[in-house]
Amino acid sequence: MQKKIVVYDSGIGGASILKEIMMLLPNYDYLYFADTKNSPYGTKTKAEILQVVLNNILSINKNGEIGLLVLACNTATSVCCKKLRSMFSFPIVGVEPAIKKAVDEGFNKIAILATPQTLESNDLIKKYIKNFKRKREISKVALSELASLIDENTDDFNRVLPYLSKKFKGLKPSCVVVGCTHYNFVKKQIQTVLPDAKIISCEKEVALQVQRVSKECKFCLTNGSLKVILSKRNHKLSRFLKTYLSFA
Ligand code: DGL
Repeated sequence: MQKKIVVYDSGIGGASILKEIMMLLPNYDYLYFADTKNSPYGTKTKAEILQVVLNNILSINKNGEIGLLVLACNTATSVCCKKLRSMFSFPIVGVEPAIKKAVDEGFNKIAILATPQTLESNDLIKKYIKNFKRKREISKVALSELASLIDENTDDFNRVLPYLSKKFKGLKPSCVVVGCTHYNFVKKQIQTVLPDAKIISCEKEVALQVQRVSKECKFCLTNGSLKVILSKRNHKLSRFLKTYLSFA
């Protein structure tokens, strides 16, 4: 059985990460899994998220197909990464908000955009808010509906602009940290609403981490293949993913 790099998310968000990985590592077999049946994750409880993610991983791996798992979802990483690492022997790469980069670059007014569950459970966010609360203004902006809006508007992401304008009213951050992989698709729209803010995301860093970890795996190089699975059929999303990841 040829092992695959499996990239996992609730919807299209993780495809922004997969694209970077495939550019860096074209000679692997990939599986992109979007849990459209259970999305969005960000407003679910930890127990609910853990259960659906675990069931999905067990079913994807029933024939031992996973060589490396990329949890390309901040919410799933925040809630499940430790648990999954304790249960499975394949390596797991998660995604974390690039808050270190924002702090290292010296920004004073940092807004972390993420789902409610990520903002509640992510250890890195907690650590930075605690350690830097006297020196920097770090605010958490929960965007409960944005991931679903992005999945629903793949034909025109500008439709999220009114939502963003409402949510960012009165906010003037010098830096925005993208803490949900779905939001990578609307960075342009975030910039339109917050023209003076620097937007920081983590796709490239995750791809580099996958490259480092893949060197330790016993993968056979291939001509590169990509399979996409949605847990609930959604033609619009399949079409979008096919075009975005450009496979026939
Ligand atoms: N891409 C997921 C994340 O990074 C989406 C969240 C959701 O399904 O609510 O958090």
